[in-house]
Parts: sequence; structure tokens; C-alpha cells
Amino acid sequence: MTAYLNGQFLPLAEARISPLDRGFLYADGGYEVIPVYSRHPFRIDEHLHRFQHTLDGIRLPNPHSIEQWRAIILRLIAQAPFDDQTVYIQVTRGADTKRDQLFPKGVAPTVFLFTAPLAGPTAAQRENGVAVITTADIRWGRCDLKSVALLANILARQQAADANCTEAIMLRDGLLTEGSATNVFCVKNGVIITPAKDHRILPGITYDVVLELAVRHGAAHQVRDVSEAELRSADELWLTSSTKEVLAITTLDGKPVGSGKPGPVTRQMHEWYVAFRDGVMRRG
Ligand code: PDD
Repeated sequence: MTAYLNGQFLPLAEARISPLDRGFLYADGGYEVIPVYSRHPFRIDEHLHRFQHTLDGIRLPNPHSIEQWRAIILRLIAQAPFDDQTVYIQVTRGADTKRDQLFPKGVAPTVFLFTAPLAGPTAAQRENGVAVITTADIRWGRCDLKSVALLANILARQQAADANCTEAIMLRDGLLTEGSATNVFCVKNGVIITPAKDHRILPGITYDVVLELAVRHGAAHQVRDVSEAELRSADELWLTSSTKEVLAITTLDGKPVGSGKPGPVTRQMHEWYVAFRDGVMRRG
């Protein structure tokens, strides 16, 4: 059983929803992705807290308590045939009886989860870093909410793939925001710089881990706006997310970043991250 839908554990291929589901009609819902190492969900409380922030932001009452979410997630993880996983959680405003934008009355939300094997970066990506493009951030004004309305992210990511790149990182009003599914860190003169967690970006759980590691190891860092010029002249750049972990960007819009190889600060942060992942996350 690798999925859960509205109270039932079932094989993913058997899960069915109504075409009048507001998630399908309007992308009226929120989601979360929790990485799982050796069957231990990583920072489950922080993910569920961020999910609550998303649901509050879209005025969708949370159908479950933290304890109920934990029980569903842990059972799903236990039933899956793989140890390292990503648990996907989605709640929508439910299957309506008609097509009307107004919040429906008396309609139960749709609760859907599934788990899949965790696919991190390849060995070649870790060793050489990845190429990214920049693109305009055309998303809405609440990028701090993990809404399932991902069309702008999808278009950016596909634009990157069409250019044989791994990720698209976005610029709004001359400032770096984030990647289509990642946060972005810069290094200039040994200082790590990343945008603040406000409405312009998703507050990444991996982002938090990276800043905690910087504090713990005494690495110089600044949380502030990053201009396009700073982005383009950075010595090093990296992406973070639950699945990409800490991944060097070595080409930006076809030009090498720094030496064109993962730089020393990126390598160090990746080492700290791996030590933390294997020493703490895997042990639960
Ligand atoms: N994406 N920014 C965006 C727009 C994201 O979608 C994500 C995560 C992140 C990184 O957040 P975290 O470190 O908590 O994974 C930043 C997930 C993995 C996804 O959509 O699959």
C-alpha cells in the first residue's frame, strides 16, 4: 500500500477522485513533500507546521490533528517497499457538486498521500554540479504557500529542461527569488547569502537546515535580498530542497559559475549536510 485517500490505504494505481474535485478544477489545495531516510521522516513537525501555514493561507480547515497526520504518514512509510522515500501530501477543498468558485458548504476535503522512492541527485550531478537558467518569476504574490497551483513553476522548469538544464531560477523586480522547486544560495568572498523567507519564496525546510549548519559551524552568512548582478557575479551557487539536498550550480545561463566546478564553500556545506543526514536524519 503506497497511497492513502480519504481514510483508506490502497495501492496508488487504485486511487480515484471525482473530476469535480476542486483540486482538479481550480488547483484549490495545498501540498507538502517530506523526505524519509531509513524510514524516519525528516522534520515531520516542521513540514506539518508549514502545511498548516499553507492551509491557513488558503482558508482550508486542516482535516487532521498533528497526531492523526503522524499516524497516517508513519503507517504509509511502514507499508512501503523502500527505505528512503518521499511522502507527498495533498489536501484540496473537496469534490463539489457543481462548478462554482465560492467555497462549497458541507463538502469534505480530499486528503491524498502517496510515497515514492527518494531519488536524490545522481553521482555525476553531485560531482560536477548542474546547469541552470534564469527566468522571470511570474508566480502569484503568496509564494510562501505550498499551493498545488504550480503552472508557473512547471513552465519555468520545462524551459530549463528544453535548454538541457536541471533547474530554472527565478528573478522578480531585479532580485533572486528561488528555483521552480528549490531555494537558492550564493557565495561571494566566502560569505553565504540567501534571500529572506517572506511571501516571495517557499520557506524551505532544507534552507533552514543549511542556515542552521552555517550557524553551528561558524560559516559567515547573510539573509538578505540578492540582486541579479550579485547572482551573476557569485563565486559559488547552490540549490537546496528535500530531494536535491545541497546541489552545486556550476553553469548559469550557459556561463560558468566561479571556476565552473563545485566551489569550496558548497563542498563544505554538502559535507556538513551529508554528515547531518546520515548522523541525525537516518536515526530519526
Ligand atoms: N519542492 N521552493 C519551492 C518552490 C519548492 O517547491 C521547494 C520544495 C523548495 C524547497 O523546500 P524544501 O527544502 O522544504 O524541500 C523551495 C518540493 C521538494 C517539491 O515540490 O517536490
